[in-house]
Amino acid sequence: NPPTSQMEEVNLLTGSTCRSKGGSSGFKVAVLGAAGGIGQPLAMLLKMNPLVSVLHLYDVVNTPGVTADISHMNTGAVVRGFLGQQQLDSALTGMDLVVIPAGVPRKPGMTRDDLFNINAGIVRTLCEGVAKCCPHAIVNLISNPVNSTVPIAAEVFKKAGTFDPKHLLGVTTLDVVRANTFVAEVLGLDPREVNVPVVGGHAGVTILPLLSQVKPPCSLTSEEISYLTDRIQNGGTEVVEAKAGAGSATLSMAFAAAKFADSCLRGLRGDADVVECSFVASQVTELPFFSSKVRLGRNGIEEIYSLGPLSEYERAGLEKAKKELVESIQKGIAFIKK
Ligand code: NAD
Ligand code: LMR
Repeated sequence: NPPTSQMEEVNLLTGSTCRSKGGSSGFKVAVLGAAGGIGQPLAMLLKMNPLVSVLHLYDVVNTPGVTADISHMNTGAVVRGFLGQQQLDSALTGMDLVVIPAGVPRKPGMTRDDLFNINAGIVRTLCEGVAKCCPHAIVNLISNPVNSTVPIAAEVFKKAGTFDPKHLLGVTTLDVVRANTFVAEVLGLDPREVNVPVVGGHAGVTILPLLSQVKPPCSLTSEEISYLTDRIQNGGTEVVEAKAGAGSATLSMAFAAAKFADSCLRGLRGDADVVECSFVASQVTELPFFSSKVRLGRNGIEEIYSLGPLSEYERAGLEKAKKELVESIQKGIAFIKK
């Protein structure tokens, strides 16, 4: 029998197994905004991830309660809570991965860009902390509008002299999770066996599902393509309206963010062929940031894949996406440069 301090833990998201030494091996992960609608279930899922040895939970409210609660789970990760800006540096020091779901969510009738005024400042402050305390950490940015907050983070890091484009990733996994679910529904397949690349950005028409590249290969009618594209692009709004003022997607987002963080950690561990879609500094198009498939490895982003062959419908969608994206990116850059 293995000693009890070295048990095999199973990652419930991926099914992969890992030898856990009860906190002495693995990666150090911080969640900023850990007491929020996304932050709490995300913290729980990360506490269940055998690759996480230390989990830091930071927020400006309520972290003592969330930390006490999650720390009672008998999994390997050691959990510590940090409350308020005076504890931000301690929360960040030594981290390998920083996941940021801090900021306000939408209410019905709002666009993600309507969140810019509040969330841009929050992301700036948190990224200044990252630049100071863990400049080599991988950053997973969830706070909306992602199409602007990722450029904001890049500018903050450039200003601090710490920018590494391989380490900054905007989280668009929820678009892929939704696309896999909705396409599987139409095709009558198991959603876990469907993989739809979603490229562009993370708002309305900038969300571009590549339905011509669905795996397993399938043939969709033009009506199905139009229905699915519209539903995937408006999946966030579907949840915002159903929650009727009580916020936006939190549970599916925590699932998506935990999956994405796990991929980043598996990349850092040296696993081969870890591929996810993400909004990153990119040369795939003429825009400075774009979401496409990236391969994750020991250095963060190891390779950014080109878009591959697009259908005529997707080429038209790409032009619309780029038109909106360029403005959102510029707005983010200008916020720091002004
Ligand atoms: P929420 O209001 O439930 O939680 C946000 C948390 O951030 C709160 O606990 C709040 O105290 C905290 N916070 C605020 N200012 C902070 C600061 N300066 N430092 C640290 N923490 C701070 O919101 P939510 O539903 O968890 O959503 C959070 C963000 O994620 C929103 O901007 C939302 O639009 C975005 N989001 C993105 C995606 C995506 O796919 N990328 C999906 C869903 C939601
Ligand atoms: C989502 O896609 O669910 C998030 O971006 C939240 C939102 O505002 O729609």
